[in-house]
Amino acid sequence: MVKVELEDVEQGYTGYRAYRSDSIDCDAFEEEVKRIHRLVGDRYRGVLITDAGEIKRVIQRISIEVRDAPVEAVKCYVYNYLSLGKLTPLLMDDNLEEIMVVGQGLPVYIFDRIAGMKETDIYLSDREVRDIIQRIARYNGRVVDARSPLLDARLPDGSRVNATLPEVSPRGSTLTIRKFRREPLTILDLIRFGTMTTSLAAYLWLAVEGMKTKPANLLVIGGTASGKTTTLNALSAFLPENERIISIEDVLEISLMHTHWIPMETRPPYGEDNEITMDDLLKNALRMRPDRIIVGEVRGEEALTLFTAMNTGHDGCMATLHANSAKETLLRLTSHPMNVPKIMIPALDIIIAQRRQMEGRTLKRYVFEVLEVSGTEGENVLTNTLFRYNAKSCRVEEVLVNGRYMQELSGMTGLTPREIGEELKNREALLEVMRKKKLRMRDIHQIVQMYYRSPERAVELLESKVVMRTTEVQQQRQRKKRGWLEL
Ligand SMILES: Nc1ncnc2c1ncn2[C@@H]1O[C@H](COP(=O)(O)OP(=O)(O)O)[C@@H](O)[C@H]1O
Ligand SMILES: [Mg+2]
Repeated sequence: MVKVELEDVEQGYTGYRAYRSDSIDCDAFEEEVKRIHRLVGDRYRGVLITDAGEIKRVIQRISIEVRDAPVEAVKCYVYNYLSLGKLTPLLMDDNLEEIMVVGQGLPVYIFDRIAGMKETDIYLSDREVRDIIQRIARYNGRVVDARSPLLDARLPDGSRVNATLPEVSPRGSTLTIRKFRREPLTILDLIRFGTMTTSLAAYLWLAVEGMKTKPANLLVIGGTASGKTTTLNALSAFLPENERIISIEDVLEISLMHTHWIPMETRPPYGEDNEITMDDLLKNALRMRPDRIIVGEVRGEEALTLFTAMNTGHDGCMATLHANSAKETLLRLTSHPMNVPKIMIPALDIIIAQRRQMEGRTLKRYVFEVLEVSGTEGENVLTNTLFRYNAKSCRVEEVLVNGRYMQELSGMTGLTPREIGEELKNREALLEVMRKKKLRMRDIHQIVQMYYRSPERAVELLESKVVMRTTEVQQQRQRKKRGWLEL
């Protein structure tokens, strides 16, 4: 286990450092913080800020207002009264996936995107944790106390929070924050990480868009944290801007640049409020005239609703499902509680199967198989393997591209398989240039959407883009400095 010295979390850590420093007069410092509160507190009543940019802006604003206050005191005020106290610097670190307070007198744990679970040198008293929990509860309009010691809530940026009080967690109040990733991984990131190849990405691009005629219905499957949702999200970036997109999830994870997009989220039963399930939302979405439906994690009866939709002409539905293989997927779909009749299965076009595995010291997530459903024969659902992972080359390789789906596409567009092959090559080339230029989400979106209007202009636009500076190198350096990685 590595002790994390958080002094070098670059963004705005000084408030916390000053707060626990021995070199300053603590009483005077606290008096100063209280004075700031007296001066501006009224205006910030009930406010909760967790966005790094917003925190900096508010610090600036208050510093201007209370000119004679030292900036450390202003930071300390913002952290402790308007944000999450000593946890604030962790909130501002984009590399962290999770922040966990496990109990009184115990260190705060974090889960780093690459380095994994780490212990920090931050300790909170039970009083401090309770303060933070209460601030979050108030912001969410909820009450958490001895009578209802559990809290499920959200931070303003969409991060999920769970909190428990000592009534149910005897070692002290706990807090689990699953941070919302502001910049989700893009298709280019997935290519860079070896999750898929450019050629597979081009195939899926074509399938998701469907050349304006037959977008594929597709499922991303895999085990827990195999990267299903991430892949679904990266593929959703290929959805055309002129389509109406509705996404349905238990917890908001999908994040798109599209304007005409309605994200929806289920509601657990809470007090007097009744539950709103995935199936309720999906049925409702079908009345909203959607062009595209995205379902994060199909688990129960909504599967039947989804397949009914696919079978009644809703093309281009995309979802994730927890299963380890295509066979298991089909079995789960057709048994309780999903109960999809076998005859409905062929409406599903493509299954993308993901897996995660340790490779040296890092966790690798990759597509190990892409299949298409080619029909049914008596009791059996028939499938073709389109791409398969080769453990020797560590790459997912093409097995068959011109399968059932491509033939259908060819039939519907009037293009020959050869012409569709060229289209695939074009998109692959475009992706390759985008990858080399390390484009981020916004630029990818722009180029893809331009491509739908005019492939030539998309190429011109891409030529005008400069190579992006990667922050990855900086982040690696930061991790190394903290002693998390041996590089
Ligand atoms: N292809 C990938 N390469 C590296 N990290 C990934 C990849 N896909 C997902 N991740 C990371 O793994 C974690 C779990 O991913 P997620 O998509 O939520 O998995 P699932 O939906 O299968 O549970 C996330 O923190 C995500 O950032
Ligand atoms: Mg998921």
